[in-house]
Order: sequence, then C-alpha cells, then structure tokens
Amino acid sequence: MADTITIIDDRTGKKVTVPITGGTFPSSALRELDPSLFMYDPAYQSTASCASAITYLDGDAGVLRYRGYPIEQLAEKSTFLEVAYLLLKGELPTAEQYAQWTWDVTHHTYVHENMRKRFVDGFHYDAHPMGMFVSATAALGTFYDDAKDIFDKSSFDKQVMRLVAKVPTIAAMCQRFSQGLPFVLPNNSLSYSENFLNMMFRVGDDYKIDPVLSRAMDVLFILHADHEQNCGTTTMRVVSSAQTDPYTATAAAAAALYGPLHGGANEAVVRMLTEIGSIDNVPGFIEEIKNGSDLLWGFGHRVYKNFDPRATIIKKTAYEVFDVTGRNPLLDVALKLEEVALNDDYFRSRRLYPNVDFYSGLIYQALGFSVDVFTVLFAIPRTVGWLAHMQELLGDREQKLSRPRQLYVGVEERNFVPIADRK
Ligand code: SDX
Repeated sequence: MADTITIIDDRTGKKVTVPITGGTFPSSALRELDPSLFMYDPAYQSTASCASAITYLDGDAGVLRYRGYPIEQLAEKSTFLEVAYLLLKGELPTAEQYAQWTWDVTHHTYVHENMRKRFVDGFHYDAHPMGMFVSATAALGTFYDDAKDIFDKSSFDKQVMRLVAKVPTIAAMCQRFSQGLPFVLPNNSLSYSENFLNMMFRVGDDYKIDPVLSRAMDVLFILHADHEQNCGTTTMRVVSSAQTDPYTATAAAAAALYGPLHGGANEAVVRMLTEIGSIDNVPGFIEEIKNGSDLLWGFGHRVYKNFDPRATIIKKTAYEVFDVTGRNPLLDVALKLEEVALNDDYFRSRRLYPNVDFYSGLIYQALGFSVDVFTVLFAIPRTVGWLAHMQELLGDREQKLSRPRQLYVGVEERNFVPIADRK
C-alpha cells in the first residue's frame, strides 16, 4: 500500500494524490484542486507548521527526545549547559567543545550596568517578575548593535550565547528587585545552576549551595529546555519568520509562556494546592472541578494523552530535594489530588494526566523561590529551545514569513452611513 493520500473535490470530480511523510501531507494539495481552498484548523490542532530535527514527542507513548537522546538519560547523565549545546548544535559536545562552551557562557553572564541600575529599577515595587523578564529580554537587544545580524552566523551565535548566559542574571535581578534585596553579581567560579542559585539567594557571606539542590535545578532546566511546537516556541518561530532579532523574538516567546494555560501553570498549581490546603478538602475540590468551577491546573496536555515523562522525573527529583529542604506540606495535597483524579472517569475519559507543571512548583517552593517567579524559572531553560528553533527556521528554505489565512464569517459588503442617519 502506497504512503499517499488522495483527495477528491466532489464539486468538480478533480482529485489529487500526495505523499504522506511522517504522518503529514502537504496542504498545498488542496490548492491543486482549487486555489481558493484552505485548511480550517483553529489553534493549529491538526497542523504541522514546520519540519524540525530538534525534539521528538510521542504523546501516546510518553516519549520525549532531544536530538534523539531520551529525556530520561539526559536528566540522569547530562548537565543543562551540555543539553543546551546539544539542542543548539545538534550533537553532544566533545570535552574540548564543552569546556569552550562553558567558558564562553560563564564569561558572558554580566548585563550592562544600565540594565541593572536604570531599567530594572524603573519597575513598580510589586511588578510581576515575568512582566519584567519579558521587558528586560527585549531591552537587552538594544545594547548590541549586532543584534539584528541574524544571517551572520558568528554574530547570531554570539547573540545566542549572550542570551543563554544572561537570562539567569536577568531572572535573578527580577526576583531580587521584587524582594527589595541588592543584586548579587554573577560568580564565574560557579556552574550555571550554582551561579543562578547564588544570584537568587545569597545574603551576606554565609550562603552555601547544596550540591543536591544545584543538581535538582540543573535537572529542572534540562526538562524544560525544549518541547517542539508548544505555544511559546510557535510564537518564537512566527516572530523569527519576520527576521526579528533574537532578543525581541525571545521576549515574544516568553510573553506566550507567561499565559496560565502554558508556562504560567506552575504558578497556578501552587496557588491551587495552597487554596485546597489539606488532603481532606481534595474530594470536594475535585467535584467542583468536574462541575466546571476551574481547571485542574497542572493536568492535561495537547500532546501527552497518557503521561508527561517530565512529570515522572520531576516527581522523583522532588523527593531528593525534600530530603534536604524538608518535605513541602503541599506534596501530600498534590499526591492525593493525583490519586483521586487518576481514578476518576471525568479525567481519565478526557485523558488528563499530570504535566510538567504539576510537581515542578513544589520543588521551586522548597528551593525558596517565590511563586510569582516560577514561570521565569521555566523561561530560563526554554530560551535555549526557542533559540534552537529560531536558528532552524532561519536555515529552513521551506520557511517564509508566517501569514496564515482565515475563514471570514463577518458581514457582507455594505455602504457607509453618516452618523446623523444612524439609529
Ligand atoms: C505546558 O504544548 C506544550 O508542550 C506545553 C508544555 C511545554 O513544555 O511547552 O508542555 C508546557 O504548557 C504544559 C500545560 C500546562 N497547562 C496547564 O496545566 C493548564 C491546565 N491544562 C489545560 O489548560 C489543558 O489541558 C491544556 C491547555 C494544557 C491542553 O488542553 P487542550 O489540548 O486544548 O485540551 P482541551 O482544552 O480541548 O480539553 C479537552 C477536555 C475539555 O473538556 P470538554 O470540553 O471535552 O468537556 O478536557 C478538559 C477540557 O475542559 N480539560 C480540563 C483540563 N484540561 C483539559 N479539565 C479540567 N482540568 C484541566 N486541566
């Protein structure tokens, strides 16, 4: 049997046969039948917008691979900077490449003093850290006159390395500003995750970084680094298709991630668990969800219809963190919520399972992060995925300026009525 699909236009009897490649067929086949025909697909639920070699998902099997490597192996054996190199360059680095990449990133963690002293200080005292992060990322590009040289590979690679290196510094500045604490400058003797924790939490000279906690931070960064064509990455690709600079495109992607249905869910989960308060309230809360009171935050996924492999790894990491920090009391509420929901047909019939955001917030809270910075913790590693996709799009000869069509459902033509004659 040929891997093809034949489409027949019943109005004319015309038919076209096109190949099926990786579960997709070119929608241009429709234009061969009738140039005025377009696929109607709200929220792109049945549309492949690009060809990509970066990340592979199998939603039914709960499979996630970065450049072919299973996420379970990377979470166990790799580091975030090594995974960043893999996502961006396509291969795991040699020891020499890894040393150079680590040196480059480590020595580009500072941001311009005007960012630190003027830009961040201009925010209101209670500005949400994600609003600050989105703004600061776009502003960062204004400090580099080569930011727009996106087709000059060495220049583009430099912007990528700057963003990978500086987003933790920006994130830490946002958090410290929100707490009214002085900024802690990057420390080049620390690893990527150790440096981030140091900038976030150091007060005085007695701050010690627990290796279990910095490793947990690194694993969380690995798990959040990329996830193929999610809402934020699709935004990155759409904006990059206009040949926008990588800083502004990253800000646009972060703006999409900010939404509670996407990256903002980790914050919503902890607020939900706090509101539930105790395991005794879980059955009643679940009934309210089933009556449509709200979403069960941290549950459900457009692709994973069995389990999110990242949630499994995060749950394991949570216990390792709690061994050091002490158990987060909300964990019991989360475990009970998961147990009740997974045994309730309302959720099973809708194939709703814990996603990456369900447990991650519990770890962030145990690490000492304030709830409103959780999505910033998602944006830091995802900046690597966004940039890898921007880079891939710019090199894809099939890609052009993103400009979908629409199904017009408005009124037909009508003539202007002077205001004096309007009823
Ligand atoms: C991320 O795409 C990615 O890869 C994203 C991400 C990444 O790494 O980039 O994985 C990160 O964004 C994870 C998702 C985090 N979001 C949340 O936890 C918010 C809660 N989840 C829902 O908003 C929802 O599950 C979505 C948006 C994640 C996915 O929804 P879909 O695929 O659009 O599914 P749907 O809305 O069509 O839901 C199907 C049914 C509906 O019920 P019916 O209308 O059929 O009766 O399930 C219901 C929905 O109402 N439903 C939920 C629910 N999620 C879906 N009901 C209660 N609680 C939920 N969480």
